[in-house]
Amino acid sequence: MKILTAEFIRSCVGPEQFPNGGLPEIAFVGRSNVGKSSLINSLLQRKSLAKVSRTPGKTRAVNVFSVVTGDVQLARFMIVDLPGYGYAKVSKSIRAQWGPLLEAYLTDREEVRIVVLLVESRVPAAQDRATIEWLLSIGHLPVVVATKVDKLKPSERVAGLRRLGAELGLDDRLPVIAYSSTTGEGRDRLWTVLKERTRI
Ligand code: GTP
Ligand code: MG
Repeated sequence: MKILTAEFIRSCVGPEQFPNGGLPEIAFVGRSNVGKSSLINSLLQRKSLAKVSRTPGKTRAVNVFSVVTGDVQLARFMIVDLPGYGYAKVSKSIRAQWGPLLEAYLTDREEVRIVVLLVESRVPAAQDRATIEWLLSIGHLPVVVATKVDKLKPSERVAGLRRLGAELGLDDRLPVIAYSSTTGEGRDRLWTVLKERTRI
């Protein structure tokens, strides 16, 4: 995938700041520290467009990026980095702010063409399964991506990914894409699925 432009647009802390240009949006969700911002940078081949941090809970707002790609024809769309859920150390008041923002974004907006749910290859969180069920209940069939696959030993890879699918209760509708932002593995496959599913 050839990325022609990728720009940060804004950090939204309330629904009134969500973009309203009517462009299709691809949303990225997952628990804190799962690797959302890194994956966005890797997909867009930009080093530090989305802020990456070792400290979970870095992304606290809905961060919107505008992208133009051009393989055969130009496509213009938005990439949206949502705040990570499930990080206990973040204060209650901040968490109380995130939940409704995430929910408002994912439930109320027609622009959201697809939700990409990131889960960590080695450590799926209990909340990941609940998130999949919730997304299905509000009409989003997510693309599930297993992040940081470079951390799996080759010998544990197949069994590890199979176990992940079982723990998350995935079936044929929800294949898992193995991804590493460090090596770029999975990038082409994820773009292919995103293009097919969003028709961008
Ligand atoms: P929040 O914004 O806090 O929700 O986190 P996030 O999901 O955006 O995660 P982020 O991309 O900031 O990455 C968290 C940590 O995981 C950082 O230390 C990254 O360097 C590391 N990381 C992300 N992707 C990968 C990967 O593919 N492989 C490896 N080995 N580490 C990764
Ligand atoms: Mg982030």
